[in-house]
Amino acid sequence: MTVGRRDLVRWLDDLGWHDPPSAPAPAAQAPAGRRSGPASCQTLEELEAFLEGCTRCDLAEKRHHIVFGEGDPHAELMFVGEAPGADEDRIGRPFVGQAGKLLDAMIAAMGLRREDVYIANVVKCRPPGNRDPKEPEKAACAPFLDRQIELIRPRVLVALGKPAANRLTGTTKPIGALRGRWLTYRDIPLLATYHPAYLLRNARGKRAVWEDLKKVMARLAKA
Ligand code: URA
Repeated sequence: MTVGRRDLVRWLDDLGWHDPPSAPAPAAQAPAGRRSGPASCQTLEELEAFLEGCTRCDLAEKRHHIVFGEGDPHAELMFVGEAPGADEDRIGRPFVGQAGKLLDAMIAAMGLRREDVYIANVVKCRPPGNRDPKEPEKAACAPFLDRQIELIRPRVLVALGKPAANRLTGTTKPIGALRGRWLTYRDIPLLATYHPAYLLRNARGKRAVWEDLKKVMARLAKA
């Protein structure tokens, strides 16, 4: 989904942002895989194929599409959300609903295009009624997200909301305690921020998110 010019202008105006950010440097190479299972997959295509028809958790019953993730396989910047919603489940792509439109605006405000980054979720199938994913569901998907990150090897990870921040930091802290400061996932710098769906309900959170995204831009601008 593309962001309407009006949405982008409104988002930028709200933030008082004008200067174009500097372009990020090229991405690192993906490492070799190991053993069988997701970790043995050497490319994102292989990993997606490995996930095809997945019945590792109960979410398989009601989903229409597995939403694997999308973007530049060598992206320097990777966003991780929580789980597909109804629109994503219908289409099979991450962040294509209202929250996705806002994420697109956030990416554009950073001077990037959606296709420059990689976007994935903690779980790849929609929890019915948009309920929170359960622990066994997150655990079943964990090796796939881990391998996705390992293959993409982004320079910076952004966790969108508490479930992603908790999953990537291995903590249960609230998003307010995690956001806005540098954390790590394995050896990758990680910044947690509010989920775009939260911003749709709480526009005042935009300022904090913009401060977080500026930190990400500054980090990516460093050689
Ligand atoms: N919210 C998410 O966390 N992920 C999506 O893909 C869509 C909405």
